[in-house]
Amino acid sequence: MPNTDSSQPSTPGNGASASARFAPMVAQLSAEIAAARNAPELANAKARALGKDGALTAEMKKLGALAPAERSAVGRELNEAKQAVERAVRSREAALARAELDARLAQEAIDVTLPGRGAGTGGLHPLTLTIERIEAIFHSIGFDVADGPEIEEDFFNFTALNTPENHPARSMHDTFYVDAPDGKGGGLLLRTHTSPVQVRYARRHQPPIKVIAPGKTYRVDSDATHSPMFHQFEGLWIDEDVSFADLKSVYADFLRRFFERDDLDVRFRPSYFPFTEPSAEIDMRFADGPLAGRWLEVSGSGQVHPNVVRNFGLDPERYIGFAFGSGIERLAMLRYGVGDLRMFYENDLRFLQQFNR
Ligand code: PHE
Repeated sequence: MPNTDSSQPSTPGNGASASARFAPMVAQLSAEIAAARNAPELANAKARALGKDGALTAEMKKLGALAPAERSAVGRELNEAKQAVERAVRSREAALARAELDARLAQEAIDVTLPGRGAGTGGLHPLTLTIERIEAIFHSIGFDVADGPEIEEDFFNFTALNTPENHPARSMHDTFYVDAPDGKGGGLLLRTHTSPVQVRYARRHQPPIKVIAPGKTYRVDSDATHSPMFHQFEGLWIDEDVSFADLKSVYADFLRRFFERDDLDVRFRPSYFPFTEPSAEIDMRFADGPLAGRWLEVSGSGQVHPNVVRNFGLDPERYIGFAFGSGIERLAMLRYGVGDLRMFYENDLRFLQQFNR
């Protein structure tokens, strides 16, 4: 705390007005008052002068023993002495208050000439950036972007996708089931993939149907590369003459544009999905870089099963096409070199800020 003049004890000057008889006592008491460094010390000094057992109070008590003539003279002098001491208290009080204010002002000083720290403008989450990137690429080749509910009906998530009740493929998609508002299990679940949006969209549009549908999906799964909530984007292209060759070129072209590199191989590995026939996993591999030479699975895909085309409300004898469903975290991890998918959900600014510089 800075020492200011007003916090220093000052020499008592107030005793002068008190009459000679009490002058030494007033001088002594005033000096103690002036020496008080804070409010409690001042209260003590005041009590020693004017309190119940104070020096001046003791003098008051002696008045009664004096002869009447003397009593009034001494009484008047004593009164003056008391007033002098009270003045000393008030002046010390004021000095201490000033000192405290000065100290506070010094401590809380604001330098208004300092430059500002800059307004944080915020930024987009890396998964949002990834989704925007995917949408822009597919948009540029004529794909619409669609959306669907995350709490989905069993029918759209499974049945319409050629996965009837008790089909073993359902167990690969263990998920979270939701009670209907009536409290009974109403056939609602957190969608396990974005494929139900295929059905919802195709039922409302006429071919040619070209759409992608990014969004959240849910499964009972949790480790460094799986999260109970994750993102996929569905792709669907239905027309009279869309072939598997179109799937290959569209997807390979997408990957090269997404990663902004041409040194990228794509392979289609036979697989199984109830809603596509034939089905394939799409793998990719970089020629250079830390992941060079390793095949990485990025998507499921296939030619849409005739039963599903029928569930779109279309004639499978006339319409044909392909679908794919890709993991968005997977693509983001590969593009940005993120090793653990959980980092996307921890909201650690040190991680997130790297994507918005
Ligand atoms: N829905 C599948 C999954 O989540 C992926 C997929 C989509 C496969 C479309 C084929 C066609 O595993």
